[in-house]
Amino acid sequence: MLWIKKIHKWLSVFIGIQFLLWLLSGVYFNLMDHTKASGHTYRSHEHAVVNFDLQKFVEPKSVLTQQNPSVVLSTIELLGKPYYLLTHKKGLYRNFINHYSLVNAYSGETTEIDSAMANALASQSYSGPGEIIATTLLTSKVADFPKQYNPTWQINFNDEVNTSVYIEAGSGRVVGHSDDDKRLADIAFMLHFMDYASEGSFNNIQIILFAFFTLWLSLTGLIWTVDLGFRGQYQIKLFAKQRKVRLFDKHQKSMGDITLSSHSNLLDGLIEHDIALPSTCGGGGTCGRCKVMINPVTNTTSADHQHFSDKELQQGYRLACQHFSNDVKQMTLIDVTEAKKHALLLTSSTFVSPYIKELRFKVKGGAALSYKAGAFMRFFIPASKGCSVPMQLPEELKPHWHHIEKLDYEHLACTRSYSIATSADTTDELVFTIKIQSAPHHKVLPGVGSSYLCNLAPGQSVDAIGPFEEFFASENSNKTMVLVGAGSGMAPLKSLIEEQTALASKNGNPERNIYFFYGARKESDLLYADEFYHLANHNDHFHYFPTLSRADENWLGSTGYVQQMLELNLDSIDNLENIEFYLCGPSLLMTETIAMLTAKGVADSAITFDDFN
Ligand code: FES
Repeated sequence: MLWIKKIHKWLSVFIGIQFLLWLLSGVYFNLMDHTKASGHTYRSHEHAVVNFDLQKFVEPKSVLTQQNPSVVLSTIELLGKPYYLLTHKKGLYRNFINHYSLVNAYSGETTEIDSAMANALASQSYSGPGEIIATTLLTSKVADFPKQYNPTWQINFNDEVNTSVYIEAGSGRVVGHSDDDKRLADIAFMLHFMDYASEGSFNNIQIILFAFFTLWLSLTGLIWTVDLGFRGQYQIKLFAKQRKVRLFDKHQKSMGDITLSSHSNLLDGLIEHDIALPSTCGGGGTCGRCKVMINPVTNTTSADHQHFSDKELQQGYRLACQHFSNDVKQMTLIDVTEAKKHALLLTSSTFVSPYIKELRFKVKGGAALSYKAGAFMRFFIPASKGCSVPMQLPEELKPHWHHIEKLDYEHLACTRSYSIATSADTTDELVFTIKIQSAPHHKVLPGVGSSYLCNLAPGQSVDAIGPFEEFFASENSNKTMVLVGAGSGMAPLKSLIEEQTALASKNGNPERNIYFFYGARKESDLLYADEFYHLANHNDHFHYFPTLSRADENWLGSTGYVQQMLELNLDSIDNLENIEFYLCGPSLLMTETIAMLTAKGVADSAITFDDFN
């Protein structure tokens, strides 16, 4: 397949260049002055009428007997005199090779067209202001008239367009005029008809080769397209193939055979068999968690190179989300999660801030899921139509959405991951706080996953896989927890808070101190504020630090960015060695907080973060 792709790419470059030349020369043909382009700027169109005394003509028979054998004898006029033109060898066309003799019809003398006669003939055909500056007999190819194969006089005039008049040396025929305008047009013709060898014809080898190359371009493109189809690139059912793949666990113990569709990448294909590899990016190739080992000769992708060393690539390590079953006969699973695919039924959908909704789901069939706080689910968003503004917008929130242009759009199927905002100990519902991502400008789609889920109506269901436990509180630890988040980064942090408080009351354990720094723009963006104020007022171990970056004058609490608020209070919380930090929020919040903590000497192992970007 590699050479098919290479041929296709280089042919497309070559053919693309020729298409460009066609376009440019075609535009030139439309704009050019056709009279000038013919080279006839100074062509004389006067033809003197000459009457000859036929009685004085030498008998043609005697001329024929004195000359070499002829196939044609004709009478012509040159410079006002009659001549017999004898054709000894006749080409198909007069520009093809012809052998002539010229005989004065009055005297019977053979006449050669010398430079003087050629000049006179050229001057008769020329109507411009120029003088003759050069006369040359061309016995090989005539550049201005590439189809002229007979010896030809070239007579150059010194006018402003550099006219050349061509006189055929054997017959005295005016082959044609050429000048700078015609030469430019000839270049355009050469490019347009691919007459790069100046044969003066479009029926040339280059055109024939070009047609052959174009056929190859089409065939290689077709082969490539079909190959991509079989690899699942277009998700056309017709192209789907089922391939048997033998699975091994990381100890090389056989797990049996499964069949995978060539449509799906290995990550998604395994899910169909209830095998969920770790993944936080949902198959985007960025998290590097979906490691498998397959045949080492399998092509590598740039994402593979980002996550594996050369040695690992040689051993066959690849990202499952980047490869299809076409590449695979057997596969070793490095890590497998307990996550399973579930159908989730939406039980309620409520705005908890102008741009964030709380969605509550129950697992269809009723079985509550067990998971560590901080876990997330990956939703399968089907191909659908969407709108940049939520369909059911409460009246009081409409002013917040006025600046968002209402755009309808369609999107393909995709997956999106969202953290669970509750603890399994407190409810059998799966609760998510999802920010409806608006588009930064009309050329990109809004968040298709958030829009789709937030526009679901209670009673509708959606498939999701999980829970994935990547972000969780360290077990058997009594250290102080400092939670830092903003926006919809609330979800896993709220889940941790619920888990820790529930744990304490359930087991009678001493409660851990929890400091929760949460940032929002305005007071209306503070999620679950009443709940956290209440908890802070009734639980000495819980401390709540809401911080607004765009507070209005009525706000009496902290202002600025939440990472700044953390830095201000850090020394008063606890010894740094006795703190575990848990972060979830926008990337700027995360990077600045991590940088600040690291600068203060906090060990990496004490910082856990949920990078949901
Ligand atoms: S799922 Fe994240 S890299 Fe494959």
